[in-house]
Amino acid sequence: MKQYTIDDIENYDQLSEKEKVKAAEMIHDIPTQEGYLTPAAKFFKENHWVKIENVIDKKVAEFLYEYVKLEAYRLSMIEHTLDRKAPGYDESVWGDFHDPQAPGDFSRYGDLTFDTILAGINSQMEECTGLKLSPTYSYHRLYTKGTELKRHKDRPSCEISATMCIGYNTSNLQDKKPDYNWPMFVKNDNGETGVNLNPGDVIIYKGCELEHWREPYEGMNQAQAFFHFNEKQGKFDILYDCRPALGLTQKYRNEEELKKHKEALDKERLDNGS
Ligand SMILES: [Fe+2]
Repeated sequence: MKQYTIDDIENYDQLSEKEKVKAAEMIHDIPTQEGYLTPAAKFFKENHWVKIENVIDKKVAEFLYEYVKLEAYRLSMIEHTLDRKAPGYDESVWGDFHDPQAPGDFSRYGDLTFDTILAGINSQMEECTGLKLSPTYSYHRLYTKGTELKRHKDRPSCEISATMCIGYNTSNLQDKKPDYNWPMFVKNDNGETGVNLNPGDVIIYKGCELEHWREPYEGMNQAQAFFHFNEKQGKFDILYDCRPALGLTQKYRNEEELKKHKEALDKERLDNGS
């Protein structure tokens, strides 16, 4: 039996990227010589990371940047006016300033807006990685001057991660470094690469596998969102980070289940010496 491939599609070169994916899907059920991967997915397969521009519209990024700054301001107001230890006060709803990865900066887990984007970009992330994905959780943070992100690898729910630049204020560097852009570094078998992002751009990377980090931030502030996925039916597949639904805070997670996955990954790292 002939094994059809994309080479059998006569007008393949004239198709848009979207149409190429559709065409590949249409011949998927016919025996093929090789599966189709988009150029981004090919790069991801080889490098375990890939940069994708304009995953969300610039106007949407502008809105989200204001949203994150307002959340941080709101929480600082709460901190100055409310007793956090008062009964009924639920920190997980408002975010916090004490994430050990970026102490003093505003961070928030599983916000409804960002979890909605997480679900919304799932299929695009699949096209860019060549993998079937399950969304786990979103997280966002407002970095401030001096914050660095130490070299690290992530927990199982971050198997495939996309870090998105939302917006930044580098007005303090206008004279000294007008083109300043804060790189995120990833390390793979080919070495270390610094990747620059503009609002709406992401770097997708294998979070449990590649070391990643940032040097101290020099601007005033920068909002970043993190969108985490697992490979569907892969070794973790922790749907919604063990929450019953997207948009719920970390208080709704099944911590016992998450612990089991983390222990399995720790053991694998120990066995591999990584
Ligand atoms: Fe990370």
